[in-house]
Amino acid sequence: MNLNHKVVAITGASSGIGKALAMDALSRGAQVAVCARNLEKLQQSYPQNENILLVQADVSKEEDCFAFIDAVIAKWGKVDVLINNAGNSMRALFEELDIKVLRELMDVNFWGTVCTTKAALPSIIKNGGTIVGVSSIAGYRGLPGRTGYSSSKFAMQGFLESLRTELLYKNVNVMWVAPGFTSSNIRNTALAADGKAQKETPLDESKLMSSETCARIILDGIEKRKRTIVMTSQGKLTVLLSKLLPGFLDKMVFNHFAKEPNSPLKK
Ligand SMILES: NC(=O)c1ccc[n+]([C@@H]2O[C@H](COP(=O)([O-])OP(=O)(O)OC[C@H]3O[C@@H](n4cnc5c(N)ncnc54)[C@H](OP(=O)(O)O)[C@@H]3O)[C@@H](O)[C@H]2O)c1
Repeated sequence: MNLNHKVVAITGASSGIGKALAMDALSRGAQVAVCARNLEKLQQSYPQNENILLVQADVSKEEDCFAFIDAVIAKWGKVDVLINNAGNSMRALFEELDIKVLRELMDVNFWGTVCTTKAALPSIIKNGGTIVGVSSIAGYRGLPGRTGYSSSKFAMQGFLESLRTELLYKNVNVMWVAPGFTSSNIRNTALAADGKAQKETPLDESKLMSSETCARIILDGIEKRKRTIVMTSQGKLTVLLSKLLPGFLDKMVFNHFAKEPNSPLKK
């Protein structure tokens, strides 16, 4: 599927991977609709362009997901590609965690995907389009200190795999992608045990994959109608070892995350 003249809707696109996806899709000739909670930030993120539609929407609210897709259809008459990108993360041990953090991540990462997909599905079926979930390695392998994040991404992938199989003979491609660590705002907004943003990143963001590279890989995958993409060799190895040597991987994953600055993990 060439994205030229296609209508692409992207959730969570005022920064990071979502913004890079929107800019790259525009350069491929698509008409692009984006949403985020903060409209002002969204407006500051994009130059004036007749091929871009900015919508204020919180995907944790079912009515906002439907309103976003209604706005896209009112403007361009259809949706060819939906990229469920909006997401938030966390860092805290489950034993110290307020349950509301887990609910909040499920509401955005999982329910946001479900509701926006439900809203866009009739148009996507009609147009033989594509539904994408921006998942994570955390959707293949439970990560310590990220119980809510991993749960939400596992749920997203289970939902999308079921849907993909339901739609197998309807000319719709359902795809999920697992970026590795990518430079973005996500670690600053990640929730701590009390549900407040941690406001710092434990990683050197300049050494991570850029959001632009991540976006290019996702859009190339959409054009080739891929099933899944696990982006990094570290991610591919993790997926393989989780099947072959899950007990060994428990220790590797623990040790990896215990080394992060201010890690909550202690032996
Ligand atoms: N960066 C990584 O290392 C990495 C790795 C694997 C997977 N991912 C996934 O990539 C996706 C994009 O993350 P990112 O790294 O680009 O993070 P980011 O820079 O923090 O961007 C997140 C975007 O989502 C929006 N958003 C957050 N909550 C929302 C809500 N309830 N409704 C609508 N929009 C919402 C934010 O804008 P507002 O705050 O204005 O709403 C922002 O535009 C996420 O699903 C994440 O899980 C990221």
